[in-house]
Amino acid sequence: MEITNVMEYEAIAKEKLPKMVYDYYASGAEDQWTLQENRNAFSRILFRPRILIDVSKIDMTTSILGFNISMPIMIAPTAMLKMAHPEGEYAVARAASAAGTIMTLSSWATSNVEEVASTGPGIRFFQLYVMKDRNVVAQLVRRAERAGFKAIALTVDTPRLGRREADIKNRFNLPPHFTLKNFEGLDLGKMDKADDSGLSSYVSSQVDQSLSWKDVKWLQTITHLPILLKGVLTAEDARLAVEAGVSGIIVSNHGARQLDYVPATIMALEEVVKAVQGRIPVFVDGGIRRGTDVFKALALGASGIFVGRPAVFSLAAHGEAGVRKVLQMLRDEFELTMALSGCRSLKEITRDRILAPWDSPRIAPRL
Ligand code: FNR
Repeated sequence: MEITNVMEYEAIAKEKLPKMVYDYYASGAEDQWTLQENRNAFSRILFRPRILIDVSKIDMTTSILGFNISMPIMIAPTAMLKMAHPEGEYAVARAASAAGTIMTLSSWATSNVEEVASTGPGIRFFQLYVMKDRNVVAQLVRRAERAGFKAIALTVDTPRLGRREADIKNRFNLPPHFTLKNFEGLDLGKMDKADDSGLSSYVSSQVDQSLSWKDVKWLQTITHLPILLKGVLTAEDARLAVEAGVSGIIVSNHGARQLDYVPATIMALEEVVKAVQGRIPVFVDGGIRRGTDVFKALALGASGIFVGRPAVFSLAAHGEAGVRKVLQMLRDEFELTMALSGCRSLKEITRDRILAPWDSPRIAPRL
């Protein structure tokens, strides 16, 4: 049967993957309230379309940190993609490149920065987890630079791993024939067997829980690459991020896998956008499954969006072709949304094209 939307890949992935792997990809933290909310919140934002505008030509191109891409839809970092498909990160890198957009490679990928770079041309970002051993971090950042990665997405919402109960029940562990390739040879490439989630134990032993704003400064001293802070949810932190001199913010709740009961990212986006006052670009990820979601994020001030699970599930289902199709479907839906709301370019996606629950009512109340 033909696949007609991004969400349909999840059921195919669930059928194909071992339960431990599917659960790891799909799960959120604890009660998974935020996981539901990341989707539900989009349904409370409505459109205010304009009519009789010539929409025979629609331009979705944009520039992200100075790099021109075909659309404001990019790929978020997701760990351990070879568990989904033998081609893993290579397939995602090729699909993103074919679509003319950006892929972000996870620190915990099952392919390393050099291998992903060798898949061919493409604009790629590297997601960084700061490990306790700063020499390892500095080396990895240098390798990412040399391999041609264009920015560092510093994940700041994971001093410890969120409590994902399915992973605990399944005793989640990276299957032994895979390696966290970026750390191969550094004694950090394997996860030890644990009584709970192997990843959770790995994080508590290796990730630096003391990470703070001074380390953002430190990172700036070891790389010339632009730094995006991934995991900002408040105006307070957005202002600190601007002061720290980062090049951008990704409003993210880590796909609802860290702190449960944080708001949906689409609800937190506007407060962050307002706080940065246009000084740096703001991006968002979390629950984006439709072109309409992309439009809503841009109307609330995002410069672009990232998708996580849609790439993972389509990769598991149909490899590179699946990821290509996901990007194409999101692109087509986004273009259609622009046309039907009377927007010919991204700059025409203004705040007044949507109605959010926190807006003052524009429709007269019924008397
Ligand atoms: C993630 N995410 C993530 N983030 C990060 O900074 N480093 C990582 O290694 C991972 N790994 C990872 C694995 C899996 C299976 C998922 C689902 C997510 C979070 C990711 O970058 C992004 O923030 C969310 O996935 C966005 O939400 P959606 O699109 O999955 O709803």
